[in-house]
Amino acid sequence: MIDIRFSADRPQDADVLVIPVGEGGADAGALGIAQGAMVAGAAKSARFEGKAGQSFSTFAEEDGTAVRVLLVGTGKDGFDKAGGAISAQLLTSGAKHASLKADGLSAEQAAEIAYGAKLRSWRIDTYRTQLKDHEKPSLNALTLVGAPDGTEDRWTRLDAIAEGVAFTRELVSEPANIIYPESFVERARAKMEPLGVALRVLDEPEMEKLGMNALLGVSMGSEKPGRLLALEYMGGKDGEKPIVFVGKGVTFDTGGISLKAPQGMEDMKWDMGGAGAVAGAMTAIAGRKAKANVIGICGLVENMPDGKAQRPGDVVTSMSGQTIEVINTDAEGRLVLCDALHWAQETYDPEYIVDLATLTGAMLISLGHEQAGLFSNDDGLADKLTAAGKTSGDPLWRLPLGKAYDKLLDSPIADMKKVGPRSAGSITAAQFLQRFIHDGVKWAHLDIAGMAWADKDSATAAKGATGFGVRLLDRLIADNFEG
Ligand code: BES
Ligand code: MN
Ligand code: ZN
Repeated sequence: MIDIRFSADRPQDADVLVIPVGEGGADAGALGIAQGAMVAGAAKSARFEGKAGQSFSTFAEEDGTAVRVLLVGTGKDGFDKAGGAISAQLLTSGAKHASLKADGLSAEQAAEIAYGAKLRSWRIDTYRTQLKDHEKPSLNALTLVGAPDGTEDRWTRLDAIAEGVAFTRELVSEPANIIYPESFVERARAKMEPLGVALRVLDEPEMEKLGMNALLGVSMGSEKPGRLLALEYMGGKDGEKPIVFVGKGVTFDTGGISLKAPQGMEDMKWDMGGAGAVAGAMTAIAGRKAKANVIGICGLVENMPDGKAQRPGDVVTSMSGQTIEVINTDAEGRLVLCDALHWAQETYDPEYIVDLATLTGAMLISLGHEQAGLFSNDDGLADKLTAAGKTSGDPLWRLPLGKAYDKLLDSPIADMKKVGPRSAGSITAAQFLQRFIHDGVKWAHLDIAGMAWADKDSATAAKGATGFGVRLLDRLIADNFEG
């Protein structure tokens, strides 16, 4: 990712001058360059109107040399999008060091531009050994010139969040031969111990002792042992109950014995997107030294078909004591979550618990790739999350829960079956989870199946892993649980 710097004057080695432009388009006098009138006119004829994320690239003469100029539109309040446009336009453009005219901005606006630029500059080139020079990123720094007092403080905070988003994207993008339960834990350790996060790791024998047969049932078909990872960050008051996040971390989902069709199965490397979001959110929250007690729990398993794998029709006893009839082994996420949720409540006694999971394909049918599904037993928590979704840019839409849906999980042999009928598949999955929520605990479930991965670029992310959930959870904490 690019490096963000601050300076009073334009750096000598800057090879592009970036100028933010608000809605309505470029005003010749406000551009701050000798040929302002010409550039403003050119931008206008190219239909550049200063809309959020819009850009216009040109050259202008300065002391006898041609200077590369990039106008980026901030719209009314799209400073992060404008920042995203800087990286999208310049990352592989040959430009190495961009200088941003930040003197006309507020501290918040300037920091948001830096944030968008950093987020949009993330990419994973680990396995590209044949990149031609012109395909490699050239841009390595963005210097904010003349930013007002307070910009650097705001940036420190946003930088921590960008690091969290990047970590989630990394975990989600890595293939399943690289990121599996044990290696997920080791990456989380390397990232988070330096930030003051304590790790607690349960291996399979320990989970067996605790009776986590639902989670372990999924893991049985895999050569890779499962793990339950707890990330503990206690930045709040002593004795204050923590907020707990729980993520589905299926490092690869073949479907198990109810094997998925081959077409697109490779996508299931990102079936750990919930756990990835939790790890990224903990990175952000600890990184910016939030004044809150927050626990992140990742249920990590691989769902494989094998002679030892779980069968449809098996009955397992979860840690809560409730028995579950396994119908389709491809509905594995809820088995992982039910034990993780139960253990989380027993261990940390939270007032609030929020789980995130790429849980159901049905979610893509109902909400597509525009917002994640939100389910909750508490209107207050649902409102807090919805609000955090709007301000963070990770939007949520609430869906219902209710007795009639719950009844669809009745089983002829066990306390419940794992899947209901095809209709309302995302809701019955949430209903299943709710059966493991203790009385009085405020709980929300976020089905992020459509949001963890994107097939097209957005303002602040290239196509691929989005990092969905990190900014949302960070906002939830910042707006409701600090101070
Ligand atoms: N990980 C999948 C859900 C999923 C599918 C996420 C496609 C993103 C894209 C989950 O484990 C799964 O397979 N769910 C099944 C449940 C069904 C068997 C009740 C599904 O949605 O088809
Ligand atoms: Mn599945
Ligand atoms: Zn899955």
